[in-house]
Amino acid sequence: MEQSWNYEKIQNHASSSTSIARQRRPTSGPDRSEWKDVGKVREMVNPLVVGFGLGFAIAWLLSLQRLQQRQFHFPLHFLVVGDWGRNGFYNQSVVASQMGQVGTMLGISFVISTGDNFYNTGLAGVDDIQFTTSFTNIYTSPSLQTRWYAVLGNHDYMGDVLSQMDPYIQLRDDRWICQREYHLQYSLCTDSMKEGCKMHVDFFFIDTTPFVDDYWAASQTHTFDWRGLASREEQLRNQLQSLNDKLETSTANWKVVVGHHTIRSMGYHGDTPELVKNLLPILKKHRVDLYVNGHDHTLQHIKDQDSGVHFVTSGGGSKAWDGVRSSENTEGVLFAYDGQGFAAISMGPHELLLSFHDGLGNTIYTAHLHKSRH
Ligand SMILES: *[C@@H]1O[C@H](CO)[C@@H](O)[C@H](O)[C@H]1NC(C)=O
Repeated sequence: MEQSWNYEKIQNHASSSTSIARQRRPTSGPDRSEWKDVGKVREMVNPLVVGFGLGFAIAWLLSLQRLQQRQFHFPLHFLVVGDWGRNGFYNQSVVASQMGQVGTMLGISFVISTGDNFYNTGLAGVDDIQFTTSFTNIYTSPSLQTRWYAVLGNHDYMGDVLSQMDPYIQLRDDRWICQREYHLQYSLCTDSMKEGCKMHVDFFFIDTTPFVDDYWAASQTHTFDWRGLASREEQLRNQLQSLNDKLETSTANWKVVVGHHTIRSMGYHGDTPELVKNLLPILKKHRVDLYVNGHDHTLQHIKDQDSGVHFVTSGGGSKAWDGVRSSENTEGVLFAYDGQGFAAISMGPHELLLSFHDGLGNTIYTAHLHKSRH
């Protein structure tokens, strides 16, 4: 279902926050050598952190500064975090604070939450105090006072699933936007581009939990709140059809699909066979650039070898340390980190920078993707 009210508000928000991001950029432009440096296909940023105290602080500032130099050319910046709501414990607050730092530096326009928003069993209802203690009171940095676009994870389905999508919850904290499926468009035009510039990115948010057979199995011990869904078969068919139709008509420079479950992953849960079978062919057919997910409590970048779909896992908002499967299929694996952290993405019409950040403030990975002009 298309949320037209959302869409309007989001469009307005997109243009106003882009101008905020612009004001934050340095006034002098990058010189060519710096630009070339940005052009490396993939680079591991040396963690630099070798000591404590002053050494640590300097290293931290340097790594942030390097990141900033690389990313300030881009018209759109956002963060991606998943698997987080634990009342601030288990490093949730530590990661939140780093998100604030990186968010400020980049001038982000929004945050994407890849689901498993509230542990262990979602929200109990629209008045659940955990919405305050795991969200409002944790992500307090000024840069995080922006829209949060969330999808639902399997743990969210173990509580009152409808509460996270209830308009009342937005009265409690108006940053929060969560629907089963929705579509957003953000402009990638900068000030210097001509009037009528139509370059943009399309984001398609989807609900992957109903796809997983195991959650419907008779042997399943958890209770899932399937209220509000059509029959399972109809729900899955409608969702795939609707995604397919929207992708088909999309004229975006970049197409990004966001869901909770993995398609390809080296983490504890690994690949999700139901999505490999049903969703991946649609992403390939329409040349989706990024599939962004959580579920595995890791930070990963994997490239599909035959289609060029990039799988970005950001599920380290608090849960972590489940291990990485080193013996698994490693085809296309560019990076896999078993630990807490989040992703930052900076986008221009023809290029994109992805970076992963841990809870200590280290930039542990950056990748630069190019898109040929059409
Ligand atoms: C919190 O992060 C630190 C640093 O990465 C790590 O050593 C510690 O085990 C983490 N604690 C939890 C509960 O995950």
